[in-house]
Amino acid sequence: MKALVVFFCLSLAMRYSTCVPKQRRTFPEDFIFGVSTASYQIEGAWNLDGKGENIWDYLTHNHVEAIADLSNGDIAADSYHNYLRDVEMLRELGVNAYRFSLSWSRILPTGFANYINKAAIDYYNNLINELLKYNIKPVVTLYHWDLPQKLQELGGFGNPLIADWFEDYARVAFQYFGDRVKFWITINEPKEICLDGYGSTAKAPMLNESGIGEYICAKNLIIAHAKAYHAYSNDFKATQGGVCGITFSVSSAQPLTSSEEDAIALEIHNQGEWAIYSDPIYSKEGGFPKEFSERIALKSLQQGYPRSRLPAYTEEEKDFVRGTSDFFGVNHYSGSLVSAVTSNNFVVPSFNDDVGVSYYTPEEWPRSVSSWLTQMPNSLNITLTRLRDRYDNPEIYITENGWSTYQGLNDDTRVNYMRAAWESALDALDAGINLKGYMAWSLMDNFEWREGYSERFGLYEVDFEDPARTRTPRKSAFVYKQLISTREVDHDYDPDYQSIMTINDS
Ligand SMILES: *[C@@H]1O[C@H](CO)[C@@H](O)[C@H](O)[C@H]1NC(C)=O
Ligand SMILES: *[C@@H]1O[C@H](CO)[C@@H](O)[C@H](O)[C@H]1NC(C)=O
Repeated sequence: MKALVVFFCLSLAMRYSTCVPKQRRTFPEDFIFGVSTASYQIEGAWNLDGKGENIWDYLTHNHVEAIADLSNGDIAADSYHNYLRDVEMLRELGVNAYRFSLSWSRILPTGFANYINKAAIDYYNNLINELLKYNIKPVVTLYHWDLPQKLQELGGFGNPLIADWFEDYARVAFQYFGDRVKFWITINEPKEICLDGYGSTAKAPMLNESGIGEYICAKNLIIAHAKAYHAYSNDFKATQGGVCGITFSVSSAQPLTSSEEDAIALEIHNQGEWAIYSDPIYSKEGGFPKEFSERIALKSLQQGYPRSRLPAYTEEEKDFVRGTSDFFGVNHYSGSLVSAVTSNNFVVPSFNDDVGVSYYTPEEWPRSVSSWLTQMPNSLNITLTRLRDRYDNPEIYITENGWSTYQGLNDDTRVNYMRAAWESALDALDAGINLKGYMAWSLMDNFEWREGYSERFGLYEVDFEDPARTRTPRKSAFVYKQLISTREVDHDYDPDYQSIMTINDS
């Protein structure tokens, strides 16, 4: 018992610096702070230096009306030409890491690895080398939604061969950049790719194969991830020494009431929203979550399908996929309360009908300018606790977290949201959750998919009217900078956000 008390005091000592209560809490010294972006959202140069067409080029050019402000990512923040300024901004913030993604169709214009575009290799080499010059760790996502259009025409994530195509592409990235990149994320947000892109019209390629497309994608995509992971661990890891994982969107959810029905509704929601993607990798059993699979199998039968709309994993596939991640990446934004009571007028078949629950967000929760994004109290701690409990305390990185506003440098709602998120992350650390880093979304304003430039997520504002795409720090940028340098959340800090932001390289 005595030893326990001493240990408790010691472990407190490491975080609080003394055993005295009421000390301010700090993030550990080795905790990684970073910011995130994605290739299509910032790079521009959509057809320069040999880049091939991707599904967002195709959508924005051929279905202009699909984007809220009729815009596209042809130029975006023009990071293809402004990467030096981007790295300067990272130095201003003092981040330890920069998460960005590679454009598959810039590197492999045909989608296949028959031809490697040297200009793309040069661009990413320049960016990576500039980051390393200032001791900023590159965190590289291989796929952040910009599939080569040719591969989409061949079925994209609806075609099981995507696993081979993705492995080939991943090998090119490991081969050319892996000597310096030690942190790989294969795929960003399976749910948004599959549900939004294949099961509905929310994102490219807008297939709207409701109740079918999202499930075919779910399996093919995770197998593609696993192939890339095995390629890295078999052929690169020993010499390059990095880690490879995947990142999921996990929103926070609590039951609306304490009823048994709502507890079941919450579990089904969790299984459908993220566990169908993450269980095959992180659960002991492997494959899709049991209750959700059974539910779709039964519904499929009732709906006259001769087999389940959710394709099963074979035992061999389960083994191939299980354990294929060195960490758990979480993109966390919003939250809601889940209820078993529904009005039940969903399209059939559909993911919503399969899950069959309803969602509430109380009036008093702050709302961003994005319809899907509200600020749920304690949401990060709730989310991370759920992941810890489901998967035996994996190493977790928050790879995205952020808030949308309209234009303007005074972004108090973002500051409030982020401070609450940091406090909640500290709660999670206090509770022993194995959280290793936090990356804010986003370094700067960018092309927000079907919302175009109408919703802004940047710590830096980008002037999209200005050919130079001038970047200016918002209040939140100053607040994040101070958090990183002090490792403490200071609720009283009220920066002069119109002042010049300086660089203090360590
Ligand atoms: C998507 O498909 C559903 C039926 O499955 C249909 O009701 C809806 O109108 C479609 N949406 C679009 C934008 O085509
Ligand atoms: C955070 O979550 C843990 C469970 O892991 C819980 O014990 C703790 O009370 C939570 N902290 C706060 C401040 O809500």
